[in-house]
Amino acid sequence: MEEFKIENNQEPTSIELRPGLEGVPVTQSSICDIDGIKGDLKYRGYSIAELAQKSSFLETTFLLIWGNLPTASQLREFENQIQMHRRLSFRVRDMMKCFPESGHPMDALQSSAASLGLFYSRRAIDDPKYIYDAVVRLIAKIPTMVAAFQLIRKGQDPIQPRDDLPYSANFLYMLTEKEPDPLAARVFDRCLILHAEHSLNASTFSARVTASTLTDPYAVIASAVGTLAGPLHGGANEDVIKMLQEVQTPDLAGKYLDKAIKSKQKIMGFGHREYKVKDPRASLLQSFAEELFARFGKDEMYDVAKALEAEASPRLGPKGIYPNVDFYSGLVYRKLGIPRDLFTPIFAISRVAGWLAHWREQLSANRIFRPTQIYKGEKDRNWEPLEDR
Ligand code: CMC
Repeated sequence: MEEFKIENNQEPTSIELRPGLEGVPVTQSSICDIDGIKGDLKYRGYSIAELAQKSSFLETTFLLIWGNLPTASQLREFENQIQMHRRLSFRVRDMMKCFPESGHPMDALQSSAASLGLFYSRRAIDDPKYIYDAVVRLIAKIPTMVAAFQLIRKGQDPIQPRDDLPYSANFLYMLTEKEPDPLAARVFDRCLILHAEHSLNASTFSARVTASTLTDPYAVIASAVGTLAGPLHGGANEDVIKMLQEVQTPDLAGKYLDKAIKSKQKIMGFGHREYKVKDPRASLLQSFAEELFARFGKDEMYDVAKALEAEASPRLGPKGIYPNVDFYSGLVYRKLGIPRDLFTPIFAISRVAGWLAHWREQLSANRIFRPTQIYKGEKDRNWEPLEDR
């Protein structure tokens, strides 16, 4: 192993550099457990498949953030509070109207989420009421922001939430201006459950790093939204649909893969740092897509996706590369009439639950993140005057 000098340690020492922190534990957590070999995912000890079948997104959010399933009265109170805080201040709406319509909705969401810190500037992160209120505000307002930007960029005014509609149905209503079919609303709610948490992925790590400085929760969520936006993370769900369109037809899937693999291009929606088998969420999302197709008609892209999965298995399977959560989610959202560039903001609507759970957990045993580096740059250079360079 190479000997390096590390910061604050002038003696050479043998340390292993792990780019991307692969396999390096940086915290203890009791929120989410992934078995990447069996393809198993649990939130607070409950299997994801059971939660998707029996729970609601808000109940799962409560479980993630406070550690246990809520009692009936806790859940009622939480749902009521969320419903009361769904609206955005006219100032936030007006600010959003100044955003360029051509901007990406993730950028709009990141800016809008960060702006909440201006409106709720008290920073009392050791006060349980402050924490509860911040959780409620963020879970309630993030979907309203996503829906508002969608209407604003079409030149319309955002519509107000409907108090008679539950969380997911209300979001789809605010987005499409139509009350959704109950099956569509339920499938959407189940998608939110599946995306709500996934241990120390890049955006959650980003949330924890930001939280560790003891800043406010709006900054924590805004930094996580920015991290989620990248194509190697949440942004992959958009690229999957682009890729399926490029493949065109099921019979061309093998040819597409051979060309992509040969040119070292990543197949979007495939591969995962944790899973060496098919992501359990991908299997569940595939079944949700099929439920929607049975009711509302098939999407021809689904056959392309299945062909790509089948053709990828002999080519990428031996390296442990299988479909991840992003592979089938876009097909579900497409069937729900959601535009492609809203797929990642929808991921954020859901993942805010996990980020907030990690925010609380980080605060409960905080130590500011400050890793070290191995300096490989120039040393002791002599200053060259401008005229001599
Ligand atoms: N297509 C083709 N080859 C792949 C893929 C892929 N999707 N993913 C990994 N590989 C290969 C990679 O080329 C490398 O091969 P080699 O060892 O020959 O150089 C090997 O597998 C290891 O890849 P890696 O990029 O070092 O693995 P990682 O653990 O750092 O990457 C990943 C995980 C998710 C970033 C990566 O699989 C990837 O870029 N996938 C495509 C983007 C994607 O779908 N992202 C969504 C991730 S899941 C949801 C989320 O986090 O938001």
